[in-house]
Formats: sequence, C-alpha cells, structure tokens
Amino acid sequence: MEEKILSTKIRVYSYNELTDTRKKLVELAREATRRAYAPFSKFNVGAALLLGNGEIVTGSNQENVAFPSGTCAERTTVFYASSRYPGVPFEKLAIAAWHDGDFVETPTAPCGACRQAILEYETLGGKPIEIILCGRNEVYVVEDGIKALLPLCFDKF
Ligand code: THU
Repeated sequence: MEEKILSTKIRVYSYNELTDTRKKLVELAREATRRAYAPFSKFNVGAALLLGNGEIVTGSNQENVAFPSGTCAERTTVFYASSRYPGVPFEKLAIAAWHDGDFVETPTAPCGACRQAILEYETLGGKPIEIILCGRNEVYVVEDGIKALLPLCFDKF
C-alpha cells in the first residue's frame, strides 16, 4: 500500500506586505464587489484578473431568480477575459467578498465549479494562475495556481 498526500501552500499576508501588483488586484476585486448583482444571497463577490498582455479584467457575481442561472464572480471574469482576449494567458486572479456591511473576515475561496473553469485557462496558458483570496485583514496567496486548490483534478482525457 502506498499513501499519497496532496498538499497546498498558502502564503498569508497583511495588505501592507503585498507587492504593488497584488495590492492593485485586491483593490480592484474589492471595488468589483460593488457591481455585483446579488439581491438573493446579498453576498457580493468581486474578482480582478491580470492577463499576460497587462490588461486587468474585473467581474462580479450575477444572480437570477431561477437560482442556477446565476454566475459566480470568478466565472463571470474568466469567461469575459477569454472572450475579450482569446488565447492570452491569465497571470493572477484576486477574489473579494462583501457581506453584511463589510468585507468578509475569512478570505472567500472559489467554489468547485469555478476552480474547474479556472483550471481550463490555466492548462491553456501553460503556467500557474496565482490566486489571491482577500479577507478583511489578511490575504491568502496561492502561487502554485488553481491546481493547488483542486487536488487530483480532471484536466485531460
Ligand atoms: N459566489 C461567488 O461569486 N464566488 C465565490 O467564490 C463564492 C460564491 C457567489 C455565488 C452567489 O451569487 C453568492 O456568491 C452566494 O453563494
């Protein structure tokens, strides 16, 4: 019998410790929460994605009265980025959430479906997409990319 252990490295920073690029993405993701359409959950999520051509694309969750028809901020963002700049690799993705009058204390991580969607573009781009999860006071940085948040992933057949 062999045992395999899959591990994920997360670096925890305070906002002030972040590089300028990461700070900018955190700010843009936070700002994007204001453009969420989340009348049902009242959980406003924003994302900011840096592309290999230097462009930054932002997005937010968009809900629907028929619940499954809505989309998370992450998928809004990556689908728009790929539609607008097809084939341009994704570099860094920041995610922030606002609920009950403030940014959430514990960083919000992407749901399983979004992790799978992000993985598609990571595979396409051929390098890890850094994931930046923004809490009110601390920021988690996953430098190894979305695969680190989706162990044993399905990425080819
Ligand atoms: N949501 C996101 O947009 N991203 C996440 O990472 C987690 C959840 C949205 C989906 C729904 O509109 C609301 O947050 C509550 O689940």
